[in-house]
Amino acid sequence: MEFFVTQNSAEQYSGDCAIAFVFKDQNHQNNDLQSLLELNQFEAKVGTTLLLNRVSDYKTQRVMVVGLGEEALSSKNYVKALNKLVVALEAAKVKNAVIPSIQIENHDESWVQSTSARVFQNASYQVDKVGVSESADATSLESLSFCSQSSDAVEINKGLAIANGMALARELGDLPPNICTPSYLAQTAQTLAKTYNLQCEILDEDGMQSLGMNSLLSVGKGSSEPSKLISLSYQNAGDDQPIVLVGKGVTFDSGGISLKAGAGMDEMKYDMCGAASVLGTMRAVAEMQLAVNLTVVVPTVENMPAHNASKPGDVVKSMSGQTIEILNTDAEGRLILCDALTYCEKFNPSVVIDVATLTGAVIVALGKHHSGVMSNDQALANDLKEAGNTALDTVWQLPLDDEYDELLKSNFADMANIGGREAGTVTAACFLSRFTKDYRWAHLDIAGTAWDSGSKKGATGRPVPLLTQYIINQT
Ligand code: BES
Ligand code: MN
Ligand code: ZN
Repeated sequence: MEFFVTQNSAEQYSGDCAIAFVFKDQNHQNNDLQSLLELNQFEAKVGTTLLLNRVSDYKTQRVMVVGLGEEALSSKNYVKALNKLVVALEAAKVKNAVIPSIQIENHDESWVQSTSARVFQNASYQVDKVGVSESADATSLESLSFCSQSSDAVEINKGLAIANGMALARELGDLPPNICTPSYLAQTAQTLAKTYNLQCEILDEDGMQSLGMNSLLSVGKGSSEPSKLISLSYQNAGDDQPIVLVGKGVTFDSGGISLKAGAGMDEMKYDMCGAASVLGTMRAVAEMQLAVNLTVVVPTVENMPAHNASKPGDVVKSMSGQTIEILNTDAEGRLILCDALTYCEKFNPSVVIDVATLTGAVIVALGKHHSGVMSNDQALANDLKEAGNTALDTVWQLPLDDEYDELLKSNFADMANIGGREAGTVTAACFLSRFTKDYRWAHLDIAGTAWDSGSKKGATGRPVPLLTQYIINQT
């Protein structure tokens, strides 16, 4: 799909279809439009659509009316309406459309353009069905023009870069776990490095062994897929300290010896969505050529049961020197992240943000709307909340008090890898916080937001918009 900016009005557009945004109880200058809306009893609820033919004053044959509800339009309702619009345009097989400029509360025209472009591009994402040779029907929409006073496409390109980052995250998430292995993620990082001229380093198991990453290595022991530690650096801000993003890359989480229940276990292929999102964010940042230094680190493993897998009760020594009693092999994310977080110190980071499908408990607490955020630095947590609100990819903060940390006590090691039934999201973060004392750090638990289940099963591309917006805000 191609995107353009036009200084003409939607009425003057000579393509296939013009979009008309309509508020409840609005009085239209265009009498023809007004009477057609009345005739059709169009109520203008958020996201309702109506296709009209030959509306006077419009050059196009067709006008797609989109309801926006009450005037004083919120960003949430705008995006909700856009997503409905995409479906309606598709159903009408529209090829070229024009979208009028619109006022949104607390946002400027730049935001509207980049967000609209992102939503349209993201909506055109299609799952690659493995083994299905003929490609699915391509989307019918070929071009979309935005009405705007300013003629440059900078904001549109920002939105597209974010959507492209989301698409990478979604592709990796949706791939079956027999294809998207730790080695596959490593190859993906190498391809990104070639495309965008990034520094890439892949540590294999021997390399990790010599750094003392026994916690990370313990998780992949029962798998025949070799574990990897990927780092990828983008440098476009001299010798500024880098932002470091760490993504959990468990390409399949069976639970290990603490085996998960069978129902829905296929969804544990999505346990690498943290990794996918930091790689996607790297793509977006590199495409935008932002003036920042960014490093992404991906510890990646497959968690399987086997005769040589970790057992409940095993004790391992992490790279930091702290020892861990593995009481549950299904609490594996924190075991790979802790060594990756210690490894991050070598980058002298300005800030470290880890992203992980870490706990089922965060879905109980927050559902699928907000990702969980926990941090040892309130200013950083606030920055992430703000970026999330701007990008409509929101987070909700959970606490990190010492009282929770005490639940990790072990009689046989410095800590246990689980804290018991209560506050599972918080105790997981407390575990990680023991490895992040030397820098500003935040943890995003995306177990509820990274993918959808049921008939819409598929990766969402979250939190690429949030992370990219956070990085944009640092420039
Ligand atoms: N990858 C899972 C978390 C998860 C579960 C994400 C369900 C999405 C849906 C993680 O590795 C895990 O298994 N966590 C355990 C921790 C527990 C053993 C302390 C969990 O949440 O049950
Ligand atoms: Mn697990
Ligand atoms: Zn997991």
